[in-house]
Order: sequence, then C-alpha cells, then structure tokens
Amino acid sequence: MERTKILVTGGAGYIGSHAVVELYEAGFQPVIVDDFSNSQESSIQGIEAILNTRIACHRIDCGDVEALRAVFAEEGSLRGVIHFAAFKAVGESVQKPLAYYQNNVGSLLTLLTVMQEFGVPNLVFSSSCTVYGIPDALPVTEQTPTKPANSPYGNTKKICEDIITDVVHAPGSTVRGILLRYFNPIGAHPSAKIGELPLGVPQNLIPFVTQTAAGIREKLTIYGNTYDTPDGTNIRDYIHVVDLAKAHVIAVQRLLDGTGAVVETFNVGTGRGDSVLEVVHAFEQATGQKLNYVIGAARAGDVPAIYADVTKAREELGFQTTSTLEEALASAWKWQRTLKK
Ligand code: UD1
Repeated sequence: MERTKILVTGGAGYIGSHAVVELYEAGFQPVIVDDFSNSQESSIQGIEAILNTRIACHRIDCGDVEALRAVFAEEGSLRGVIHFAAFKAVGESVQKPLAYYQNNVGSLLTLLTVMQEFGVPNLVFSSSCTVYGIPDALPVTEQTPTKPANSPYGNTKKICEDIITDVVHAPGSTVRGILLRYFNPIGAHPSAKIGELPLGVPQNLIPFVTQTAAGIREKLTIYGNTYDTPDGTNIRDYIHVVDLAKAHVIAVQRLLDGTGAVVETFNVGTGRGDSVLEVVHAFEQATGQKLNYVIGAARAGDVPAIYADVTKAREELGFQTTSTLEEALASAWKWQRTLKK
C-alpha cells in the first residue's frame, strides 16, 4: 500500500528529525524541507541509517514561495504538513526581532498560502509552553490564559497560533490544524544516530550539561537558586524527544481522520516538574558522570516554574509519555559520546 506523504519543514532539525523517523516507522512517507540554517546534513544520514531507506529532502527556505510551490508540485499528493522550521533562540530573538518575525511568521504565511493553493488540508504546528508566560497556577492546562510574550521568539509562537486559528475559521477554509505546545524536549534517539546539534555554545540546559560532562565546557552555571521553588532553582517539564515526536504522528493521524475540531491545542509534556538541581542529580545518577556546576545569577526572562497538565492529550489523543527523565538524560549522554568520537 502507498504510504501517505507528509511534508516536514525543519525535518533535519532536532525535533523534526525524530518526528521523521517516527512518521516513517508508523507507515507514513515523510518528505523533508530544510534550509540547513540551524541543522546539519549529517542528520539526514542519521535518519536514513535508522530507517534503512532514502528520505526525500528539499534544501529550500520555506519562506521562499516559489521554491515551496515547486516542492508541492514535485511531490504531489501531500496529505499534511508538520511545520517545525523556525528560529528558536530566545536571547537571539531579543537582539534580532525582525529576523525572528520575518522567518517564523513569514514562513508560516508562505506555507499556509501554498497549502491552500495545492489543497493540502492538514497542519501540525510546533508551538511552545512559552505562550503561557509566568503562569498564575500550576500545572498549566490548555485553558490557562496565554500571557504577553517575554521575547520576540515567544511572540512569534503566539502570533503563529493566532494566524492558524484565523485561517482555519475563514469561510470555505480547507485547512485544519493542531497546535502542539511543547514543554522542554531533551534526549536523543536510542540509536544515537540523531540528536540535538547546537551551534556554538549551547543555550539550553541539557546540551550544556552533556558538553560539560564531556569536558567541552568547564562547568555548568545554574541560573539562580533563590526562586520560589522547593530547592530555589527553576522547574520545567522535560520530555524525551522521541515521546514528543510520537505526539506528532498521533496528531497527523487525527487530522487525517477528521475526528477533532478544525483547530485544537494540546500540551505535550510529561506532567511532571523537575528543578535544574534535580536534573543535574538525575544526570549524575543515570550516567555515573560527576557534573561540575556552580550557582550563578538568574537569567533574564526565565519563568520560575512551569509544567504541563497532560489530561487533554491523554484523553483526546491517547498520548502518554513512556520515557523517564533518567532514560532521556542517558540517551542525551549516549548521543554526546557519539559526537565526541
Ligand atoms: C525556553 C522556552 C521554550 C523555548 C526554549 C527555546 C520558556 C518557559 N521556555 O526554554 O519555550 O522553546 O527556551 O530555547 O520560556 N539553565 C541553567 N543553565 C544553563 C542553561 C539553562 O541553569 O546553562 C536552566 C534555565 O534557567 C531553565 C532550565 O535550565 O530553568 C531550562 O533552560 P532551557 O533549556 O534554556 O529551556 P527554557 O528556558 O525552559
């Protein structure tokens, strides 16, 4: 039987590459679009090594309308799109807001336009728990009010959610959408053939932890220990990237089945909050590596604590995570050791 084709923008990136693997393993035919501005060719090789097959990959910027039209025309019969392609560095977005709005909002507008032109009906969008800002109560449900974004990056996610919501509700719209609000994805594929490839000094916690354990960085700085949390460090909901990738397969299938509303929002997390110190200790436990760390100043814009209420994803998508924090951290360490070779 012919596989159903799903376009994956940003499919060479960290979450995208894991989603491509899970899509293929679930019987879909993923087609990658990536401009490799924040990803490497090696991730395509990793994907193909895991799947033992070739995966079509178009090296284009998905904000380039002509190039995107050419991909839709060449591929034909696309049944859906997962839109990962976006800039994602919070600090950089404060320095370069125009680049963030141009790239993140611009590429979504282009993508929706071309999807409508070609009658491609289904869109899964990579959103973020950043839309909740500093929440008034925990855990956050999908009904928790969104807050003004504290970075241009976060604002692009809110704006893109609003754009998709308006587009699907327009009279005669042929597009349906699922907005997935990710918590903190970590870890790597168990094969260690794909994983996170940060450019330069990692801004996110786990790649900094693994690079420190590998001796690439001297020490981890924990950004503040005087927050109003049990041990004073920030609390996040860390989800194994393979679990997160699987949520996309379920979302795609739900859109194809047409069982949900025209647009739906889901939190994708574990439902559990862990502090930075708990993550450090879990890493040490899971890997046997002692981590050199110091407590430093708080990072501007950090949310003290956030984790997901996962009831809606469980009840309506049937989605549940299966990996523990320790398993996710062990997979991140296995990946780091592969990189060092
Ligand atoms: C943030 C956003 C998320 C966005 C992501 C993109 C929120 C709640 N989350 O994630 O939506 O997609 O950026 O990068 O706004 N930490 C250290 N030392 C380090 C690095 C991090 O202590 O060297 C701490 C941070 O203070 C934070 C935790 O580790 O408490 C996780 O940080 P990080 O991995 O950067 O993710 P978020 O900031 O949660």
